[in-house]
Amino acid sequence: MTTVIDGKAVAASVIESVKSATRSLESDAGVRAGLAVVIVGDDPASHAYVSAKSKMAKECGFLSVQHTLPEETTQEELAALVGRLNADPSIHGILVQLPLPKHLMSEPIIQSILPEKDVDGLHVVNAGKVATGDLEGGLVSCTPAGAMVFVRHIHGDDLSGLNAVVIGRSNLFGKPMSALLLAANATVTTAHSRTRDLPAVCRNADILVAAVGRAEMVKADWVKPGATLIDVGINRVPAPERGEGKTKLVGDAAFKECAEVAGVITPVPGGVGPMTIAMLMANTIIAAHRKAGRQPPKF
Ligand code: GUN
Repeated sequence: MTTVIDGKAVAASVIESVKSATRSLESDAGVRAGLAVVIVGDDPASHAYVSAKSKMAKECGFLSVQHTLPEETTQEELAALVGRLNADPSIHGILVQLPLPKHLMSEPIIQSILPEKDVDGLHVVNAGKVATGDLEGGLVSCTPAGAMVFVRHIHGDDLSGLNAVVIGRSNLFGKPMSALLLAANATVTTAHSRTRDLPAVCRNADILVAAVGRAEMVKADWVKPGATLIDVGINRVPAPERGEGKTKLVGDAAFKECAEVAGVITPVPGGVGPMTIAMLMANTIIAAHRKAGRQPPKF
């Protein structure tokens, strides 16, 4: 029987741990965790994501601050806001929602966030810590951190002897995911669009992680029987069967056929997606513990 991972349930248990750590940090150290979320412009999808993040931060008991800036915000104005949030002792985590409007350069903004407040894990200091296997000192970007929670649930902390294949080599996901699997002792292959015979490479994987951004690209005959398949893709495709003009979300793997071969599989939606916000909350409470000189919880 294939196990379908319930990402919502796993995310809910992470959120419960965050809430309890938030309460104990407040009662033991008198510190309330604070998360600032910054959004620039009018992109409706970004506004929906940011509202969900701010709402979840409140639910966790954080001081939750949202800065909504107009489309015409200048680079200097945005940099000044990040500077103020860096200096604000009530704020432990800063997230600048991407993408920024075209006239703004995101890289200098992201790199200007203090690494200890970079709860997105996008600062080069945090990326470098993940790359060097220093997982205790930095902040790990949320989606790979969430995917690793699933991997640990299934396989435990030590992946010695297991082959892992990550399809995708982005800085945001593929590279940190490969580094986290390697740090857990897996034998890791980072595959991508230039990989020769990708299906054969994938068939070697005990843990297959798909992050290519192409709807249902991974087929059943790419999957080793019994393998764990983590699908990170979120692709909106036409769904005429639901009515004219309707769409639906699908992953990077053809779920139905892959589920017949895999031992464990994550669905889309409801798999990795809910974990991303949960891990953002986890990073914020970790950052707040560190700032208070307390041992942060593990997720
Ligand atoms: N836009 C889409 N996903 C993300 C994310 O994880 N972090 C930020 N900052 N922006 C995003």
